[in-house]
Amino acid sequence: MSKSYHLVLGGSQGLGAELVQQLLKKGQPVISVARSSDGTSAGSGFIAIACDLSRQSDREDLIAQLQKLPGEIDTVYFCAAQMAYGDYAETSLEEGSRLLNLNVLGVHHLMQAALSSLKVKRVYLISSEAAFFPLASMSLYSASKAFLHQFGLSLYWNALARGVLVQTYVAPPMKTQFDQKYASKMKRRFHRFEPSTVASHLLSARDNHSPEIFFQSKAGWIRKLMSLFPRKLLVKIFSQV
Ligand SMILES: NC(=O)c1ccc[n+]([C@@H]2O[C@H](COP(=O)([O-])OP(=O)(O)OC[C@H]3O[C@@H](n4cnc5c(N)ncnc54)[C@H](OP(=O)(O)O)[C@@H]3O)[C@@H](O)[C@H]2O)c1
Repeated sequence: MSKSYHLVLGGSQGLGAELVQQLLKKGQPVISVARSSDGTSAGSGFIAIACDLSRQSDREDLIAQLQKLPGEIDTVYFCAAQMAYGDYAETSLEEGSRLLNLNVLGVHHLMQAALSSLKVKRVYLISSEAAFFPLASMSLYSASKAFLHQFGLSLYWNALARGVLVQTYVAPPMKTQFDQKYASKMKRRFHRFEPSTVASHLLSARDNHSPEIFFQSKAGWIRKLMSLFPRKLLVKIFSQV
């Protein structure tokens, strides 16, 4: 019998790894993609693929492998992302380009494949609250998440017409390696959630078919409230962060 896979991009750590574990516990076949994947597959329900999603040639190889799958892809989870923290002017061109190649071009490339050559039913784009705030210390990362967020919302009806449900999931701050790397540099004043809690929230939202899903409904309200603020004031407040 042909399988229906869950494809987790960035499934070796953090939120992606939690999604992989929870899906496997539910008995769902999973394909996990990350640079550090060892390429081994444990049993018939789990496939690990090593791929640097910031590289076009790697993404092309991945798409070719996925096209040969004996089955369809139920859901794609776009978790893989890179962060750059610090003074933008001091971010090397190389690091910035890697970030954009993964967080922007990688999303564009794989989304085109998901909507055309791959048999995908549903896509979750993992956005961040950073998509709404012009954070000076994470300008490239925030901008890349704003791109992903608007991209998902803009695509919603177009993708639906092709039979694919594209949803943008706004994850809260989480206790992952992603966060660990920058926690010491950022004066954090907000609560950070366990990635397991966020993964189970995302997986329990299967019946929610809306374009945008917030982990915390508070984040949606903050966003609405922010739209009432003069833009200049917002930039002034958040460009200090
Ligand atoms: N952590 C937070 O506070 C937070 C808050 C809101 C939203 N988010 C979003 O949630 C998502 C997951 O974040 P996280 O904190 O779980 O991240 P994480 O712990 O850093 O894990 C990132 C995953 O992506 C993979 N990855 C990174 N670069 C890759 C590349 N070039 N090619 C292939 N895979 C790559 C990593 O594996 P390899 O290193 O092995 O490649 C890893 O599996 C991201 O989209 C992030 O923007 C995070």
